[in-house]
Amino acid sequence: MTGDKRTVFSAVQPSGNLTIGNYLGAIKNFSRFGEEYKTFFCVADLHAITVRQIPAELRKRTYETLALYIACGLSPEKNTIFVQSHVPEHTELAWLLNCYTMFGELSRMTQFKDKSAKHAQNINAGLFTYPALMAADILLYGTDIVPVGLDQKQHLELTRDIAIRFNQTYSDTFTVPEGYISTDTMKIMSLAEPTSKMSKSDENQNAVVYILDTKDDIIRKFKRAVTDSDSVVRYGEDKPGISNLMTIYRAFSGKTLEEIEREFSGRGYGDFKLAVGEAVADGLAPVRDEFARLIADKRYLEDVMKSGAEEAHYYARRMISKVKKKIGFVI
Ligand code: TRP
Repeated sequence: MTGDKRTVFSAVQPSGNLTIGNYLGAIKNFSRFGEEYKTFFCVADLHAITVRQIPAELRKRTYETLALYIACGLSPEKNTIFVQSHVPEHTELAWLLNCYTMFGELSRMTQFKDKSAKHAQNINAGLFTYPALMAADILLYGTDIVPVGLDQKQHLELTRDIAIRFNQTYSDTFTVPEGYISTDTMKIMSLAEPTSKMSKSDENQNAVVYILDTKDDIIRKFKRAVTDSDSVVRYGEDKPGISNLMTIYRAFSGKTLEEIEREFSGRGYGDFKLAVGEAVADGLAPVRDEFARLIADKRYLEDVMKSGAEEAHYYARRMISKVKKKIGFVI
């Protein structure tokens, strides 16, 4: 809780272009909280350096991610939008929480296992303790609800365990947060290999649709999407390609799966793929336009970062003092 409002926290890493999976699974949902909740949305630059980043790129993407938040409908007046490294309490609490997080717990994190396999030359300690920093992000603000994609569920469960462990060791300190994982669009799959998740690091860039892709690119990618050898638009486990396209179309058009099946009954896959491409491109057009406007206005973005960080800092400081007292530090 923050004052008398329930609190929402989420973050996105500035480590690359965001896909429509990131958009549907996380960011698009963020804006629904602004009215009713106290909301914190963070650009997780500290998390990004657990894998090597090119400095100029990291800086650029930090601005871009912030602009994208706003372009996706998060107004800085209604939401606290900030950059993680601007609020030093994130790092401070992360160290403290490291001492309440078990080696065994961190070893079981599937993201750590995946990333260590992918970056075998750079399995650094930060990559390992990444979830303790994420727990710090969340717990600093007394967060009740964390909207995230399905891939972050395990980290969120660990955050809960850390909070409970700390509360039991001392006394009630942290709010134990709940995940908010959108169920209708939990997993957007690759357009080329619809049995694996759409991932920004996919070597086949035709398999991935980005929020900021042009209309032509989007339509081209959907036209090439892998389907199957019959020609019926129907949702089912035996039809992963078509089912994935239906999930995407449903999310962008608001139609139900039954309505989609009816709309395309007797029509070929070509028509269907074009309709999905157009729905996605049209749905993202306002985001793309607003992004272009914002990214050209660095001063404005810097003002947002600055006031967001000040606001976040105020709440974070209070939590840090409370935690340090409980642990027994002289403050
Ligand atoms: N780890 C998240 C991701 O890669 C980003 C993140 C960092 C986050 N801190 C968070 C998400 C706190 C939710 C809450 O997607």
